[in-house]
Amino acid sequence: MRILSSSDSEDGWTSIPSEPINVVVTGAAGQIAYSLLYQLAAGSVFGPNQPINLRLLDIPVMMTVLDGVIMELEDLALPLLREITPTTDPNVAFKNVAAAFLVGSMPRKEGMERKDLLAANAEIFKVQGKALDQHARKDVKVLVVGNPANTNAWICSHHAPSIPKENFTAMTRLDQNRAQAALAARLNVSVDKVKNVIIWGNHSSTQYPDAAHATVNVQGSTKPVPSVVNDDNWLNITFVEKIQKRGAAVISARKMSSAMSAAKAAGDHMRDWWIGTKPGEWVSMGVLSDGSYGIPRDIVFSFPVAIENGQYKIVQELQINDFARSKLSNTSKELEEERTEANNVLQNK
Ligand code: NAI
Repeated sequence: MRILSSSDSEDGWTSIPSEPINVVVTGAAGQIAYSLLYQLAAGSVFGPNQPINLRLLDIPVMMTVLDGVIMELEDLALPLLREITPTTDPNVAFKNVAAAFLVGSMPRKEGMERKDLLAANAEIFKVQGKALDQHARKDVKVLVVGNPANTNAWICSHHAPSIPKENFTAMTRLDQNRAQAALAARLNVSVDKVKNVIIWGNHSSTQYPDAAHATVNVQGSTKPVPSVVNDDNWLNITFVEKIQKRGAAVISARKMSSAMSAAKAAGDHMRDWWIGTKPGEWVSMGVLSDGSYGIPRDIVFSFPVAIENGQYKIVQELQINDFARSKLSNTSKELEEERTEANNVLQNK
């Protein structure tokens, strides 16, 4: 199978019809999957010429709900969708998959600490890591959406030693999209005019949404966002807090967590990983730290990455000022603590 490359056609997609690829979505009966599955079946993630077989994993009590989702998938009448396999067995779900969306997880219940959430999810991601190790393609691209996403991705990769660690990523694209939209609203431009805003660190309230390197196109000329905004207090406090707390604001209004926007972000993340980013542009992904920017190694940390031929590279040599440095160290500290917790949980099993 060919990895789609941005050189294949003007819009980035190959025009050569391909064999179907197997794609797994976990938590397939849940909210995010409900919006994500349409994007996958319609070709907006893997391209309009890439047929797919969907593997849909959920837990036994959700199988009736999943039946309904499958009826709807059939009724979409989309030609790229070749096979659908509903299952409760990770060994079936992960067989020969080329891409994995790990959305399913134990939700946070009232009064539950982040630590308890981590413990509940560590076992799920251990089991799925092992199943990926045994059954998936060795070049599988894994996107973890289920929270705590960064540490779940770390757990998963540690239980899949035969798959390169670079193939495990966590989703911070929703945070990036939120940040891009907030800057566009502030500057009164459409979102496509704002580029290269960065989410550093954990997909949690310690994340650092950073507009210092972002650009905005105003009337045909590209300018640095900080000089156009011209309000450091807004950028360093109001903007940062708005993005950090956006998920909670959606929950408070909708009484459910972000789903449509999370699904769109998951599609964006995988599509860019699959076909690449445009020259000079980058996106944020939680990836295993290689020590770039002084971030401790062996945590899944969100960095700006540029992607070519299905491989991402952390964007290097961005200037980090003292303010940004303190934010980066705060969020990396939280990820180190989560890793310690995850290790404790897994060792005590
Ligand atoms: P949901 O509760 O609607 O769906 C979750 C689904 O996962 C349920 O159908 C559940 O049965 C299933 N599930 C539970 N354990 C499973 C297992 N072991 N194997 C397979 N499936 C399993 O939740 P929703 O809204 O779809 O969110 C899913 C996750 O995504 C949550 O952890 C949420 O916090 C997270 N999330 C992450 C975001 C990010 O930016 N990284 C943004 C928004 C949500």
